[in-house]
Amino acid sequence: MVTLGAGYLAVAGCMSACKNKAAKTEEPVKASAEPKAGSVVGFTIDLNDPQYADLDKPGAYVYVNKLIIARTNEGNLVAFGKKCTHQGGPLAYNAESGLFQCSWHGSQFSGKGEVHRGPAKVNLKAHNVAKEASTLTITPKG
Ligand code: FES
Repeated sequence: MVTLGAGYLAVAGCMSACKNKAAKTEEPVKASAEPKAGSVVGFTIDLNDPQYADLDKPGAYVYVNKLIIARTNEGNLVAFGKKCTHQGGPLAYNAESGLFQCSWHGSQFSGKGEVHRGPAKVNLKAHNVAKEASTLTITPKG
C-alpha cells in the first residue's frame, strides 16, 4: 500500500489553486509589442529618447523588435531584419567597413542589405524608414 504524506497533499492542493491565482495576476501580453517572426508591425521611434539619439550619427545602430535600424556611413537610415539570412545569426553594423556583419560565419551585407560576402546567399529584407522632425516611422516594404 502506498501512502502519501501531508506535504504531497499540500503541494497537490496548491498546484490547482496556485495555477489559477498565477493566471489571474500575469500581465496581459501586448500584441504589437513583439511582432511574430517574419512579420513587422509598423512603429515609431523618438530620436529624443536617449536610447535612440545616436541614430543621428553615421555608423550608429539599434535593435528594435526584430529589426536592426542603422544610420549608414552615407547617412541613410535603414532597417532590416536583425538576423542573418544564412542561419539566423545576429547582425551588427560595422562603421569601419560600412557593412552589416554576422558574427556566426562572417557573412557581410551592404548598407542596402545586399550580400557582400557569403556564405549568405539571400539579401536582407529591407523596411521603409521615414523621418519627420525627430520621429522615425518604420513600416513594412511592399
Ligand atoms: S548565420 Fe550569418 S553567416 Fe551564417
